[in-house]
Amino acid sequence: MHGAERPVVVLDFGAQYSKLIARRVREARAFSLIVPYSISPDELKALDPAGVILSGGPASVLAPDAPMPDPAIFDLGIPILGICYGCQLLAHQLGGRVEPCGKREYGVAHLEHRDSRGFFQGVAEFTQVWMSHGDAVAALPEEFETIGSTENCPHAAIAAPARRFYGVQFHPEVVHTPQGDRILSNFVHTVCGCAGDWTMGSFLEAATEEIRQKVGEGRVLLGLSGGVDSSVAAVLIHRAIGDRLTCVFVNNGLLRKGEPERVQQVFRDNFQINLRYVDAEDRFLERLAGISDPEAKRKAIGNLFIEIFDEEAQSVGEIDFLAQGTLYPDVVESVSATGGPSVTIKSHHNVGGLPEKMNLALLEPLRELFKDEVRALGAELGLPEDIVWRHPFPGPGLGVRCVGAVTKERLDTLREADAIYIEEIRRAGLYREIWQALVCLLPVRSVGVQGDERTYEEVCSLRAVTSEDAMTADWYRFSPDVLQRVASRICNEVKGINRVLYDVTSKPPGTIEWE
Ligand code: XMP
Repeated sequence: MHGAERPVVVLDFGAQYSKLIARRVREARAFSLIVPYSISPDELKALDPAGVILSGGPASVLAPDAPMPDPAIFDLGIPILGICYGCQLLAHQLGGRVEPCGKREYGVAHLEHRDSRGFFQGVAEFTQVWMSHGDAVAALPEEFETIGSTENCPHAAIAAPARRFYGVQFHPEVVHTPQGDRILSNFVHTVCGCAGDWTMGSFLEAATEEIRQKVGEGRVLLGLSGGVDSSVAAVLIHRAIGDRLTCVFVNNGLLRKGEPERVQQVFRDNFQINLRYVDAEDRFLERLAGISDPEAKRKAIGNLFIEIFDEEAQSVGEIDFLAQGTLYPDVVESVSATGGPSVTIKSHHNVGGLPEKMNLALLEPLRELFKDEVRALGAELGLPEDIVWRHPFPGPGLGVRCVGAVTKERLDTLREADAIYIEEIRRAGLYREIWQALVCLLPVRSVGVQGDERTYEEVCSLRAVTSEDAMTADWYRFSPDVLQRVASRICNEVKGINRVLYDVTSKPPGTIEWE
């Protein structure tokens, strides 16, 4: 689903940076895909790549079980860029030699290059690069020459220009290589010959056409949460097939203030999407009565959501596809460096179990996009800014922010506090800087004084974090006056709260949500 542009394919050797490489390629306006390193030459050829990038990785090419691509990929006539481990693979598999460095090199180095017209065009002859490696190229394969060195790494950049093969020991994809974007752009445009016309506009046209082709005369059902991903998916699919899309929006009573109204206004009134609004607040409250354990809450909310969605689907009638706002980072399974399953920290609520249960084909029109690209697409489709830039919100909603028992009264209290917090963050112009901001209502009472009255009410905790991908997060450093305004407004305006805390825990060790 990428229009006319041929992809640059990243072969993943378990690098933490593979997704970053793919993103940088897209920032250079070329389409990119990530595939496991073990892809067969035929499968690779079928993708019709404009170029291939061999990623870094934690292994050593000298180890007996080192991950290696099928050497036949070197005979396909496709331009190749090897990064770090990928560079060593080029040397190792094409007849050169790789040796351990003795001492692992990690951090900033200075590259001196001698190729100002091709691969390093426009890059200062002496430039900072980022290194992280234990092995290095010691002898070049035939046809290769060295085009850049650093003090500790004589073959920091190698090339066989006639074959359009390049290798760099450093990481051009990270910000610590300030001219790395220029280097990747040179590879993508000058070496691979990509036109650089991968834009959201071209994606939108290609995606619309692809949805039409795939769905034909069929009907599509989408669970709309009001979050960025399902919202963009809804508007995109609607653009392609109009009224043959039905969206289901379940108000589980765990949403933020004004959210159900806003979703109906945007999707039904503005976009004229066929929207079924299900008011299930009472059913969720009933199901949650007496449950305070976080996992039990998550299960109860997730199961009831599936039950309700299933009921709605039945009443819609004939459906052929279930649409989901799945994104590229969810699709790409990085090659695990250590192997083995990861531990479940929280059972995430999503509609993952639905397609099998309902026996429907899946439609995932965003599965090739990164989050920032989905936002750009949303803007292109005319979605309002408050939806395009919305902070992530968990499926179980305020249910996991109402720490302890979930009751209507506590939810209403939390909703009011949350609305004030977000309003003040917007007012201070900080909303986009912050990955996510949330209030948790704690099952703790404290004594306070208001006017001449003694109060004995609950405590809430504010949390705001910065993050790249929610895997790690740092707490946001507000200026004290913003916190002061929020605290004072919550205590004065929200009945039921008389004390406000600010959460200064990073992730790890804390998760972003409390439950
Ligand atoms: P944690 O709390 O695990 O959250 O650090 C990481 C990110 O995921 C969001 N989150 C969820 N998103 N369904 C979702 O779609 C869920 O069940 C869920 N639980 C947490 C959380 O808000 C944060 O952005």
